[in-house]
Amino acid sequence: MAIIKVGKEDLRESDSSMSELSEYFSSLSASKGRSITYNVKTYGCQLNESDSEKLCGMLEQMGLKEASSDETADIIIFNTCAVRENAEDRLFGNLGIVKADKINDKDRIVAVCGCMTMVEQNVEKIKKSFPYVDMVFDPQHLHLFPVYLRDALRNKKQLVNISAEDYIVEDSLVPIARKRRFRALVPIMYGCNNFCTYCIVPYARGRERSRDMEEIMDELKKLASEGYKEVMLLGQNVNSYRSSKGERFPQILEAAAGIEGFSRIRFMSSHPKDVSEEIVDIMASYPNIETHLHLPLQSGSDRILKLMNRPYNREDYLKTAHYFRDKVPHGAISTDIIVGFPGETEEDFLETLKVVKECGFDSAFTFQYSRRPGTKAATMEDQIPHDVVTERFGRLLELQNDLAYKSNLAKVGKTEEILIEGQSSTAPDILTGRTLSNHLVNFTIPDELKDPSKTSDDYEGMLCDVEFTHARPYSVDGKMVRLK
Ligand code: 5AD
Ligand code: SF4
Repeated sequence: MAIIKVGKEDLRESDSSMSELSEYFSSLSASKGRSITYNVKTYGCQLNESDSEKLCGMLEQMGLKEASSDETADIIIFNTCAVRENAEDRLFGNLGIVKADKINDKDRIVAVCGCMTMVEQNVEKIKKSFPYVDMVFDPQHLHLFPVYLRDALRNKKQLVNISAEDYIVEDSLVPIARKRRFRALVPIMYGCNNFCTYCIVPYARGRERSRDMEEIMDELKKLASEGYKEVMLLGQNVNSYRSSKGERFPQILEAAAGIEGFSRIRFMSSHPKDVSEEIVDIMASYPNIETHLHLPLQSGSDRILKLMNRPYNREDYLKTAHYFRDKVPHGAISTDIIVGFPGETEEDFLETLKVVKECGFDSAFTFQYSRRPGTKAATMEDQIPHDVVTERFGRLLELQNDLAYKSNLAKVGKTEEILIEGQSSTAPDILTGRTLSNHLVNFTIPDELKDPSKTSDDYEGMLCDVEFTHARPYSVDGKMVRLK
């Protein structure tokens, strides 16, 4: 399928819909005597988060305000992932909950979008069981959201806009309401060509397509001048970035690191086949590129990797991991692992445990295999019984928790720079942030460093040095020694 580059002129209807909707919401606000509000609920990866920031940007341009947590919004959008079945289950549960709100207020709009809309059964289920959902649209057509919203309000019947087209829309064409004032999510490429046999993403997000490097650089420079401290370069396969002019990921990474103002450059997700020594060398040579590599292993068994259509073996993977450990000695490696892929034997699983031990992952996202309709693995024989999967999963988790704890323990006694993310969710006088290696840190501010004029929120996005005092399974405790 051809890749369609969206230009400013292609967004005319979207722009005029936004103006029309601004007027509509402004009169609705006058008649209700209050602001009109939205709530975008996001389930999934950072690319989904980034899509949600665009939806929020468009809604804010139409004059809406984000609803406070205890208020039911006038527009509720569920932006939902399809990678595993549990996100969909959660969505259907939530749709049941909003039914009463929708019945109580006919002006309220409920929308569903995200990768899950590309699974036919999901859309059929919404049509049949949730007729009060006003609109359903796919992630490729995000830029047309204002048009869909206008049509849904005009037609007053459920609108379903799903079609698979591979658009590339530059960020400069769509308003973005960034969730965090220190972190900018910047997608550099979309889609995936890998067709790992368990994965729905290539069907949901289409083929790989990359943004223009010049556009990305303009966006990054603007973000740096606006005071963003951290940039996250995003793509389903971020390292397979290739612009129409032939520029590749290493060039983007180096150019981003060279922009003054960013203290942290992060990127995800990487595919082991695309993580070259060149990328690791660049990571090792710039002080503001995170010393953390997310390298999804999926399985440690060569036989299962082949069945998964992952074009590397255990040895290739370990070579990359060791190269990274050598070049970035204080760095961290995280991974994704699937347990219970069809045909996985106890021996295959033990191979996975072996690789996990050898790599000593600093953290890991571990998943039980979820059968996704439409993927090749869903039709494979020898699906693994649930009890076997959960038993193996438990063993993996036990090993990985131990490794994560050890990784945190190795920090104790050291002092490192932290980018402050805000107040900890557990205690108001504790701040939370991350090291350059992406370790999560909770820390206190000693009295002599406390600034009574600052609230916890004021620290968000600031850098400080923290001395680590105590390790936990998923985080490190510490105390601030210097605010920068
Ligand atoms: N079942 C379980 N985990 C999956 N992932 C992708 N598809 C599935 C599936 N069908 C995991 C992979 C991927 C991460 C984002 O989600 O580990 O790297
Ligand atoms: Fe899914 Fe594999 Fe593509 Fe990652 S590389 S998005 S796991 S198909």
